[in-house]
Amino acid sequence: MRTVTDVGSLIPLPFFVINNEGCIIKESDRVAYIFPHVNRFLELVEDLESRSKVYRIFQLENDEDEKIEVNLKTKLRTHERFEVYARRIDKETINILCLKKTRNKEDSDEKWEKLVNKVTEQSLLLKEKEEKIIHYKKIIRELSSKYESLSSIEKLTASIAHEVRNPLTTIKGFTQLIRPYLKEFGKEDYADIIQEEVGRANQIIYEFLNASKPSKPIKQTYSINKLIREVVLLCNGEAVMNNIDLNFKPNNVDSIIQVDVKQIKQVIINILQNAFQALQTIKDKQKKILISVYQIKKDIIISIMDNGKGMNKQVLSKVFQPFFTTKNNGTGIGLPLSLNFVESHGGTITVESTEETGTTFRIKLPIS
Ligand SMILES: Nc1ncnc2c1ncn2[C@@H]1O[C@H](COP(=O)(O)OP(=O)(O)OP(=O)(O)O)[C@@H](O)[C@H]1O
Ligand SMILES: [Mg+2]
Repeated sequence: MRTVTDVGSLIPLPFFVINNEGCIIKESDRVAYIFPHVNRFLELVEDLESRSKVYRIFQLENDEDEKIEVNLKTKLRTHERFEVYARRIDKETINILCLKKTRNKEDSDEKWEKLVNKVTEQSLLLKEKEEKIIHYKKIIRELSSKYESLSSIEKLTASIAHEVRNPLTTIKGFTQLIRPYLKEFGKEDYADIIQEEVGRANQIIYEFLNASKPSKPIKQTYSINKLIREVVLLCNGEAVMNNIDLNFKPNNVDSIIQVDVKQIKQVIINILQNAFQALQTIKDKQKKILISVYQIKKDIIISIMDNGKGMNKQVLSKVFQPFFTTKNNGTGIGLPLSLNFVESHGGTITVESTEETGTTFRIKLPIS
């Protein structure tokens, strides 16, 4: 067995290992495809002159390389032109590699050009495919991360909802108890608002606990000015306590819209809560929040502006991502939930912010 076992199948070229007498000791698999079986390499060489040239390379010193061009006997044709590369490996052995000489330069140039064109064409196709794959990969990643977050947000909300429900029941009970006392001071409205809001919170929680997804909005015809006034009334106490100037500029024409009042109130409360928190660290200026409502064509815009600490670009780009928070005790679900509610009304929320200057959230809602 003369096959070059270690490299025989790896070298797709005719390759021989010969001894000083020119006897073939080993050969690559390819040899048997091209050449007839011979014992001595010289038997493949066509004429005497070429044989003596080849014989000379058997006399090479160690580490020397030699290249000669000769006709060799092949299986297909009688003789073909080959470049024979020889290298002495040690005192007893020489490696010989045979490369078929291309007969016609023009012919080979043409073949080469065709090959280059084909490769270029294929690589362009591959590039196109690669771009498509990258594009689809991005879409899949975005979708999967969105759905993953949505399903985890549902789980989280369900667990929070469960925890929040019990204290709400207590608040409701106590408010009922103190209502008669508040009535004495003409302030029973406060008790009514608390009752109503606790009921609203309970309803939202009920919905979350009973359905894995936030339910479809239950829309009713409502005055947008009234809706915001009620939220302001609810949050004014907290604003006063924190020395915040909370102002509301209603729409001149009181627009009546079709909304799920509970959901939209929740959205405004979430944004106001964030504004309160952003104003906490402000010391050198009057803390202000301005809520204004206006109408552009068939959309209502609710703008909530604060002069709090604002956000840098990095934070700003992530505010609607579920669980993104910069607060020690934040959960990062206020804004994604708000966006969810507003989007289910066919609306949008946009935000602009400048560090150390303030932030403006704009909720856009279609009138009907
Ligand atoms: N008005 C604002 N000014 C400055 N930063 C804000 C404002 N509103 C939101 N942010 C930033 O957006 C982040 C995400 O807000 P989001 O309401 O979703 O979560 P959170 O307030 O951190 O926690 P949670 O509302 O769940 O208690 C906040 O942590 C804060 O960094
Ligand atoms: Mg928040």
